[in-house]
Amino acid sequence: MENETRCVGVIGTGNMGRALVKRLIFSGYQVLIGSRQPDDRRKLLNDDVYLNDVEVTSIDQCIERNQIIFVALHMESYQSILVVNTDKFQGKILVDVSNQTKLQQINLSNAEYLSSIVPHAYVIKAFNTVSTFVLENDVAGGSRRVFIAGDNQFARETVSSIARDMGFEPVNIGALRAARKIELYVLSLFPQWKMPLIIAFTVFTLWLLYIIYYNFIDQKNFGWHQIFICVLNKPMCVSAITLLSLTYIPGSLAAIYQIVSGTKYRRFPVLLDRWLLLRKQLGVITFYVALIHSLMSILMMSPSYYKSWFRSTEIIIPQNLTKDLHFSMKTMMTWKGEAASLFGILTIITMSILAVSTAPSIGDTLNWREWRFVQSKLGFLTLVFAVCHVFIMATPHWITRGFVKIFYFFFWIFRLQV
Ligand code: HEM
Repeated sequence: MENETRCVGVIGTGNMGRALVKRLIFSGYQVLIGSRQPDDRRKLLNDDVYLNDVEVTSIDQCIERNQIIFVALHMESYQSILVVNTDKFQGKILVDVSNQTKLQQINLSNAEYLSSIVPHAYVIKAFNTVSTFVLENDVAGGSRRVFIAGDNQFARETVSSIARDMGFEPVNIGALRAARKIELYVLSLFPQWKMPLIIAFTVFTLWLLYIIYYNFIDQKNFGWHQIFICVLNKPMCVSAITLLSLTYIPGSLAAIYQIVSGTKYRRFPVLLDRWLLLRKQLGVITFYVALIHSLMSILMMSPSYYKSWFRSTEIIIPQNLTKDLHFSMKTMMTWKGEAASLFGILTIITMSILAVSTAPSIGDTLNWREWRFVQSKLGFLTLVFAVCHVFIMATPHWITRGFVKIFYFFFWIFRLQV
């Protein structure tokens, strides 16, 4: 049995087939390649220093002599190549490594199709999410997780152990039906980021248009030469606080929903459900927008840009001046500048802890209570710091205008969270 499992077959000599063979050989497996034209293929593989001594045989022989066979073929060829040998597959483990060619809803995965044409074999879906580049290069970037799906537990465990031997991390995702999901996985481009990026872009664009209208058309506050940092910093900072609120509002709405429904077990409305799922990505985007704002603000930190943050220096020059006068100018910050800066720094620090904790390598080390503490309490503290940062800047303007009442609402939401 030991020898049987160390010997595997690979049908197909395309890029994926060859990469698999190399990786299996380096992992200590004895590999037999199965091809429709074994003689031609043998000549071709002779040019590859790593593959020139690997045995190439007919597909028939490859199936007969191996218990575990990797099928590295296009799905369109399954019928013509494999179905003629269907009886020989009795009790064998077939590893399907193929992918879909188009991102579309599918009713049958390639692996399920393979299982339907060779019903006596145990078909396992695996390795389709690993690129040939990662298979061939130990130091290459890219995920080292191998998703494994199949209906037979023994076959799943056998393939998991091979994946482990090959230096990958097997992730058991269940029955063969789950192949429908992972066959599309490699075709999707950051699917969870699309909506949060659209929201962030929309929020930023709306604020940018408003700020350009207000400062250039309505008020003529700035020159166009200030657009790159001084003006752009404004939509950045207001977008940061808008996105931060959009990250934490759904949690509060969910809490209100549960209180009103009187139960924790009722499903949230679809929109709220989807919004809750966007929080992680929205939070990370918010962090970067706030970081850009912080860097831009630090660049401009001078009395020329922020008059109310620095003490003004008054110089009186006597009229009957007969000799040179020397003034040393040391413009210090006002309490407002110092306090607003402090809260800005506190906001960006807590926000960075939140962003770092969303990385899987850090998140995995936290237990559920710690994770909730960071994401919920620390998240809300971040929002409070950001509001203090803005509020300090807005004093005394907001107090005289009565805007302060909005904070009653914040305290109410905060109490709901705690
Ligand atoms: C090192 C950290 C930070 C510094 C030095 C800083 C500094 C500043 C400065 C100088 C302004 C005035 C900008 C202007 O009027 O053009 C400002 C505004 C603002 N900042 Fe920050 N900030 C920091 C971090 C943050 C963070 C993390 C947030 C997160 C949301 C934030 C949110 C805001 C908001 C919303 C405004 C607009 C206030 C208003 O227009 O009334 N800041 N900040």
